[in-house]
Amino acid sequence: MAAINAVTDLTVEGDVGVVTLNSPPVNALSAVVREGLKGAFDAAIADPAVKAIVLICDGKTFIAGADITEFGKAMTGPSLQDVQNAIENSPKPVVAAIHGTALGGGLEVALVAHYRVAVPSAKAGLPEVNIGLLPGAGGTQRLPRIVGVEKALEMVTSGQHVPAKAAHAMGLFDELVEEGNLRAGAIAFARKVLAEGRPLNKVRELSDKVEAARGKPEIFEAFRKANAKKFRGFMAPENNIKCIEAAVNLPFDEGLKEERRLFMELMTGSQSAAQRYVFFAERQAAKIPDVPDDTPTIPIKKVGVIGAGTMGGGISMNFLNAGIPVTIIEAKPENLERGVGVIRKNYENTAKKGRLTQDDVEKRMGLLTPSMDMEALADCDLIIEAVFELMEIKKEVFTKLDAIAKPGAILATNTSYLNIDEIAATTKRPESVIGLHFFSPANVMRLLEIVRGDKTGKEVIATAMKLSKTIGKIGVLVGVCHGFVGNRMLAQRQREAQKLILEGAMPWDVDRVLYDFGLPMGPFAMSDLAGLDIGWDPAKTSSSTVREVLCEMDRRGQKNGKGFYDYDENRNASPSPVVEEVIRDFAEKRQIQRREISDQEILERCLYPMVNEGAKILEEGKAIRASDIDIVWINGYGWPVYRGGPMFWGELVGLDKILAKMREFHATLGDDFKPSALLERLVAEGKGFKDA
Ligand code: 3HC
Ligand code: NAI
Repeated sequence: MAAINAVTDLTVEGDVGVVTLNSPPVNALSAVVREGLKGAFDAAIADPAVKAIVLICDGKTFIAGADITEFGKAMTGPSLQDVQNAIENSPKPVVAAIHGTALGGGLEVALVAHYRVAVPSAKAGLPEVNIGLLPGAGGTQRLPRIVGVEKALEMVTSGQHVPAKAAHAMGLFDELVEEGNLRAGAIAFARKVLAEGRPLNKVRELSDKVEAARGKPEIFEAFRKANAKKFRGFMAPENNIKCIEAAVNLPFDEGLKEERRLFMELMTGSQSAAQRYVFFAERQAAKIPDVPDDTPTIPIKKVGVIGAGTMGGGISMNFLNAGIPVTIIEAKPENLERGVGVIRKNYENTAKKGRLTQDDVEKRMGLLTPSMDMEALADCDLIIEAVFELMEIKKEVFTKLDAIAKPGAILATNTSYLNIDEIAATTKRPESVIGLHFFSPANVMRLLEIVRGDKTGKEVIATAMKLSKTIGKIGVLVGVCHGFVGNRMLAQRQREAQKLILEGAMPWDVDRVLYDFGLPMGPFAMSDLAGLDIGWDPAKTSSSTVREVLCEMDRRGQKNGKGFYDYDENRNASPSPVVEEVIRDFAEKRQIQRREISDQEILERCLYPMVNEGAKILEEGKAIRASDIDIVWINGYGWPVYRGGPMFWGELVGLDKILAKMREFHATLGDDFKPSALLERLVAEGKGFKDA
């Protein structure tokens, strides 16, 4: 065996040279990896004893892509293209042996090999779109030559990881070999290639699949149209599509050049910078300075949920989906029946769409035990309370729970705003109490705010972080404060939105500006969707807000066809002249002089205070790092990932610019705009949030 460099070996086994790469954690194509690969292939090609070459990786995966940490830095060592040329032009057949995930540049390396074999658990994909890029090493030109235009379009714009069986069926993998036996299987395959005198297949030379789509621009137009909603605001999907078009319409080398041009356009833009930041921010969120990775965790084999309303039902589904039994408790039998019915209906609907079998539905429902008796929670390892948002009720529930739950069980609350320390204080085990703040719909939204109380134990935190992964969520640890991170910042935006409509804007102006910014919907459309009468009490109403006035007029939102907007029978919204009148009236009564408000002001008024509030949250230590705040906003509130979250975006705008505006608004509009001390300090010192 010859070591080529620190991460690459070349072994010669009879007539087969085996190039082994070992660069943890994911064999990404860093400079040292490219250097090792180039050296190994040059050596194998030069060795007369070697007749065929196998490329295989140690560790958990085949090459998972370019090394994203190197992006934006000066390149050293051989380029990826040098490596690919060495492989593709090898006069000896090259077999890529794939396990784990062959992703991005990794799959692009495999695509220049003459053959690809994989174990059944392997996956392949071009996920560059998820970091605002496109496969920039020939992936967009080679993939459609194997799988055809439709599948290639799907793969590059979704970034999906295709399982080995499907990859084999579409010709991406030539052969599947026995699990756990990849090395021997790949060597045997290479010998078969030699014995049968098979050709040196070069994907670049295939043309029938791309020719089939030539002169049919309608394929691309239809694809764009079908995905317009999904791609809204993103640049990368469109550039990926253009690359596949180039593969169809241009000779291979010209197509490569076009791919490079479109790649560089994305690489130098702010969207990809934001999406790459988010990639690392997500992984960073899992790291908690005083709760090390090896902190023991509590096994969660059985979960209890109290309250079968909007949240309790969705929360339960997460665990049922993960195969963890749930006991769900209600106060009233009709609510229990309704709650369980909603869970079943959700599953049935998924089954109707073909995404679940009827068998799966029954399996999941079979794991659910409805009960009216809290004693049924005695053997649960984790109990999540999701009853009404009232401190007195929560305290009562936790007092009871304390008497019932087994020692060591985690007692969690899904409260949106309430003080978790106060809730914990009603128990004799505050170290077991934690906030698990799910977002609605709880079975869909990826965010889980994990709220750490003053006394929450480290094992409890470690367990909650681990559990978030088990149920497919992204957990972000936050501290106790009103509304925690997400809702606390949201309140800033909501307040300004309400003020803006009195000062001169209309709800649809505010909504349009925020929608165009990339949010899924504006605050008024959101209110209409949720129902204007949530928390509205007809007995106490006093026309004190526009919303109250609308409720008094029986404008309750989408559910009765009228709220801030008017809705037709298909729930299409249109601006309401009645609401316009209500708002003008309301402002007049309060002697608010309405004026022209620009889109720019709407954006600044709604979003700058959020950045400022984020700074306060950091300053108070309620979030560990600015990037955690961004992860909350992207996964809990639909902040466009290509804008990297409010804190990343704030820096992109310029903290100095935001501070200057906050000061200006502070002078004219009052204390809602008081700049945070941290923002002041960072600007004075010319620093960013990561230095906070
Ligand atoms: N570059 C640099 N570091 C990477 C990386 C990459 N491409 N992919 C993963 N890592 C790092 C992670 O940051 C993490 O580091 P940490 O332990 O310090 O936090 C570590 O590897 C392990 O990653 P995960 O925690 O994500 O491990 P999983 O086992 O859950 O997932 C994976 C593994 C599926 C490979 C996942 O990491 C992944 O999806 N990686 C990104 C793949 C990708 O986007 N590839 C395309 C890159 S762009 C490209 O190739 C351009 C080319 O076309 C020219
Ligand atoms: P909901 O009103 O839909 O459901 C609450 C359920 O709890 C009702 O079915 C009620 O019968 C039941 N309940 C009340 N007291 C009970 C008791 N003592 N024992 C057993 N069951 C009892 O309310 P929702 O929306 O599900 O909210 C629950 C909690 O989740 C609240 O704290 C809320 O702030 C929080 N939350 C709500 C979100 C939302 O979007 N709805 C989002 C995130 C958190």
